[in-house]
Amino acid sequence: MNVAVIGSGGRENAIAYKIAESTLLESLFIVPGNPGTASLGKNVSINTSDHAAVHSFCTENKIELVVIGPEQPLTEGLADYLRDAGIPVFGPDKRAAVIEGEKSFSKELMKKYGIPTASYEIFTRDDYSKALDYVQNGSFPVVIKADGLAAGKGVLICATLAEAEDALKDCFERNLFGSAGDKIVIEEFMTGEEASIFAVTDGDDYVVLPSAQDHKRIFDGDKGKNTGGMGAYSPAPVINEILLTEIEKNIIAPALNAMKQEGRKYNGCLYCGLMITPQGAKVVEFNCRFGDPETQAVLPLLEGDLLELFYSAAIGKLNKNAVRYSGGASVCVVAASNGYPGSFEKGFEITGLETISDMDIKVFHAGTRFDGGKVVTSGGRVLGITAVTKENDLAACKEKAYKALKKINFGNIYYRTDIADKGIARLK
Ligand code: AMP
Ligand code: GLY
Repeated sequence: MNVAVIGSGGRENAIAYKIAESTLLESLFIVPGNPGTASLGKNVSINTSDHAAVHSFCTENKIELVVIGPEQPLTEGLADYLRDAGIPVFGPDKRAAVIEGEKSFSKELMKKYGIPTASYEIFTRDDYSKALDYVQNGSFPVVIKADGLAAGKGVLICATLAEAEDALKDCFERNLFGSAGDKIVIEEFMTGEEASIFAVTDGDDYVVLPSAQDHKRIFDGDKGKNTGGMGAYSPAPVINEILLTEIEKNIIAPALNAMKQEGRKYNGCLYCGLMITPQGAKVVEFNCRFGDPETQAVLPLLEGDLLELFYSAAIGKLNKNAVRYSGGASVCVVAASNGYPGSFEKGFEITGLETISDMDIKVFHAGTRFDGGKVVTSGGRVLGITAVTKENDLAACKEKAYKALKKINFGNIYYRTDIADKGIARLK
């Protein structure tokens, strides 16, 4: 099978690495890919917003499956365009991708179908004074979210009324989120531990992959600004079997059913961002794709054939036995450019990559590029270093991941030193 993976991040590097293991694969293309995917297939530079160009490429190269990694091409309708042209796609169409693209849609869906989530109100720009009134009469902390995609920066957690008023100014006066902030969701602050669950679905049936936990804040101890994610581990001990059964019954199955009922049948990966509260699991957000960096932790734990899983989902005949998890643990630590998620310098040479040959260590590229014969930094999150153990031993994984990371270097390297600690504490 000829396959194209759309995207250029660490998540797409991990997806490409798993697809490259498949015996069904003939040729793999990554559009546009990165230096990490260059050794797994052919990187192709196409503007993925140009749907006709992607389609021409697929026709010329007899592509039989397109796997779309990031949310943007999904919310822009790339899956719709290719599917209409008869090409199987793993990833939801535009009408289904709104589950991530419009937070107000997903909140209304959850309310209508009784899926547990934080209580909320929706306000538009015209309702500015009503929104002010709402926070002035509410309790704190409160969470204010831009409705549209805001590159992970559209969530403001406000500890005080002054912060909430300032957040409303960010949305409605300073236009920090552009049109993504034309509408906002103000919601109850939930306490608990977060976890991510990926359900791979053909719209009717689904399989759940091993759970994971992300580390969203930039500094150790979950301090500092929110980032795209500074590391992840899998499975997350905070989700035991009983809880997982509840999550499937109360969240995943109803959400997929709801999408079907609404005429938005969902095909691809439904990312459930959860808060495990004292009252059980509640949805923080749904995303229309795999998580990054959770994917770099979850996929290396899968046995079987990921390409078979994706293809079977894409053609509407999910093969639930295509992959399995039979134990093991993983920890992915993100090496970032110091300064991220704010501004940072790039263009530094990355050294030491060739010194890591351990089979149980995977180095996934994200913000890197080739510069002559060298690989240099080109983004905030640069690499994801994943260590795997056969037993479910998070502490050993953590040790292996950081040991490998010490062999890698680039100018202004920064990483958290406490990835997986919450999971390790739970296993003790
Ligand atoms: P989101 O983009 O919706 O996942 O939000 C980013 C992060 O903000 C989440 O991973 C949580 O850490 C935090 N967050 C979002 N909504 C809430 C909420 N209602 N209560 C507590 N934390 C939240
Ligand atoms: N790791 C968080 C996300 O992918 O949205």
